Amino acid sequence: MAATFRSKVRSCIPGLYRQTHSIRLLKEIVKEELGTIKDAGTWKSEHVITSRQGSLVTVGKQKHKVLNFCSNNYLGLSSHPDIINAAQTALEKYGAGLSSVRFICGTQNIHKELEHKIADFHQRENAILYPSCFDANAAIFEVLLTPRDAVFSDELNHASIIDGIRLCKARKHRYQHLDMSDLEQHLKEEKNARLKLIVTDGVFSMDGDIAPLDMICKLADKHGALVFVDEAHATGFFGKTGRGTEEYHNIIGQVDIINSTLGKAMGGASGGYTTGPKELIDLLRQRGRPYLFSNSLPPPVIATGIKAFDIVLNSNDLVKRVRHNTKRFRNAMIEAGFTVAGGGHPICPIMLGQERLASIFADEMLARGIYVVGFSYPVVPKNKARIRVQLSASHSDEDINKAVNAFVEVGKKLNVIS
Ligand SMILES: Cc1ncc(COP(=O)(O)O)c(C=O)c1O
Repeated sequence: MAATFRSKVRSCIPGLYRQTHSIRLLKEIVKEELGTIKDAGTWKSEHVITSRQGSLVTVGKQKHKVLNFCSNNYLGLSSHPDIINAAQTALEKYGAGLSSVRFICGTQNIHKELEHKIADFHQRENAILYPSCFDANAAIFEVLLTPRDAVFSDELNHASIIDGIRLCKARKHRYQHLDMSDLEQHLKEEKNARLKLIVTDGVFSMDGDIAPLDMICKLADKHGALVFVDEAHATGFFGKTGRGTEEYHNIIGQVDIINSTLGKAMGGASGGYTTGPKELIDLLRQRGRPYLFSNSLPPPVIATGIKAFDIVLNSNDLVKRVRHNTKRFRNAMIEAGFTVAGGGHPICPIMLGQERLASIFADEMLARGIYVVGFSYPVVPKNKARIRVQLSASHSDEDINKAVNAFVEVGKKLNVIS
């Protein structure tokens, strides 16, 4: 009787116990795919953190806290007391969330305040918030570009840009990474397009290299194109006062459209935005699908964003600190004999080549109290595996010395350096 009852229950729980031919087929196909990933040494496992985000974190079963060199917490604001306090106050005053999209009953005064703050920070006419920068990138191209238009995208742009562009009906051009003559060649092919939009990451997250925005803007002027930049790895900390890649190149105001995130330097919670011409922002509020059809950002998250912008607007100390830390780490690693990609940005990819080497290297580092992650295909090209180190304003000189010493020890052990 019991067995019959159990089998009846099993057959009622969808997914878990149904053993149809289709489910068996699905499992076989997926298992094979998973095996391929494991065999290639590109399996990405997740370490579980049991503490707050910061330069010191507790990871998995490690008894002691480890130094964190792999987060996008560039300004060290993720667990900053003022940020936490702002979130707590907002939670109390405005609640946990809106249970609504923005245009129904999901817009509070603090959502508008943050949008104004973002536009002022970037010196643009207006801004619109999204649940993430991924969503901001998913929305914009489909809304703005039609079959009469053309889009020109750097081949190494972030996945969310690639996906966003896929959704639009413009003619699509992919130019070689940072290659201005290739970009110009493509622009010349589109003399008759209505709108021409050049699209680039400000800073490329896997290589830490920087878009030549000054040259891109010049080409845009020459060929009557617009410029869009994704500043996820620049807003708040890159450039003299943290205004991003435009400021780094001394061309503030020349880029037409900026998308960025609140999920990295600016408090690290979540949220993304577009800032630019007022009319474009108005249109995105009417047509941007991730804006129209996804829940409004929760008040505590909005409050962390507002506070993060206030911190950056009030003092340049954290921006200076992350710049100092970057220089210190990069110089020491190059001197030790490592190949460090990128230049001048807190993303410092330590190039290792083989996928498996990168993952063993990262494990050895963790065993020495330094938390870094190996990046391999498909996140980066095959045989270009690396450990991506990211510096934060919250690292001390001593933290950096410890990381470099561990790199040298492991590098020698695994014959990466002599
Ligand atoms: C360049 C770039 N754009 C967009 C995103 C997505 O940002 P979010 O986490 O806000 O969706 C990322 C995040 O990895 C990124 O690196």
